[in-house]
Amino acid sequence: MIQQPVKVLWNRKLSRAYYKIGLTCSDHYASAKPGQFVMLGLTGRRDPLLHRPFSIHNLLISNGITHGFELLYKVIGSATAALTQRKPGDVVDIFGPLGSGFLIPSRAKRVFVVAGGVGVAPLVFLISDLHRKEVDLSNYQVFIGGRTKEDLLCSNEFLDLGVSVLTTTDDGSAGDQCLITHPLEKALGHTAADVIVACGPMDMLACVVGIAEKHKVPCQVSIETMMACGMGACLGCALESRLETEHYLHACMDGPVFPADVLKF
Ligand SMILES: Cc1cc2nc3c(=O)[nH]c(=O)nc-3n(C[C@H](O)[C@H](O)[C@H](O)COP(=O)(O)OP(=O)(O)OC[C@H]3O[C@@H](n4cnc5c(N)ncnc54)[C@H](O)[C@@H]3O)c2cc1C
Ligand code: FES
Repeated sequence: MIQQPVKVLWNRKLSRAYYKIGLTCSDHYASAKPGQFVMLGLTGRRDPLLHRPFSIHNLLISNGITHGFELLYKVIGSATAALTQRKPGDVVDIFGPLGSGFLIPSRAKRVFVVAGGVGVAPLVFLISDLHRKEVDLSNYQVFIGGRTKEDLLCSNEFLDLGVSVLTTTDDGSAGDQCLITHPLEKALGHTAADVIVACGPMDMLACVVGIAEKHKVPCQVSIETMMACGMGACLGCALESRLETEHYLHACMDGPVFPADVLKF
């Protein structure tokens, strides 16, 4: 993990609430694992004081050299609103890469990838990384759920990598009108999966974990909880554990990606 000022390469508005930002980085990030995150601070501002966690959305690689990475972010408060104002050449403060990543066992052929809203961010990195490693993705299925059409992100990124995508919205403005866990459960009724990976809101994750347990499929979840420090100092990201040895696990140090069976939902 290193802390460094990095330059903004671009900062693109995708829709009213969503942006993608490209940042420079040292080649240290070449070994970043999908699921890992960075803490981002806005230099030159007192508000917000604290860095904010964001999943690495993808690496920027040219001629085999990692020279930057992308974040996908939703504007919800002061830091993300201020981030929208950063222009190419501006500097932000980053420390990372932090935390654990997803681990897809090499024997896993049929993999279900479940995203809720901006929870899709690390899953694009996961699929891109597997694609770069020439993993056969033909039996991968991505499920993306959002409240509305605007919250369905990155379908094209997955389709471009040859992975089929199923979408749902709560209001029916795109895809089927239902929760994304409905088609997940339906798909598991037809074919078994070797692994499920998921990232999104806690209630979605709780439902995905319940379904995975019912169908006896190993599941990994990435938790996007509030984080003040990102490095085990504040204990603000505590999650209740099912382990006998630990009452609490910490999303920043033990996660953010966990085997689902170690957490209480
Ligand atoms: C490991 C990790 C990875 C993340 N990856 C991404 C990502 O890739 N893209 C992205 O857009 N966001 C991501 N987040 C969430 C992101 O960190 C928050 O949206 C951000 O900190 C909000 O900062 P803010 O100052 O704009 O909002 P704040 O002013 O801090 O918050 C505005 C409101 O949102 C609530 N809130 C803030 N953070 C969260 C949260 N994590 N969960 C639920 N409610 C929250 C606050 O209570 C408050 O009501 C991630 C979080 C974690 C822990
Ligand atoms: S965010 Fe401070 S301990 Fe995890």
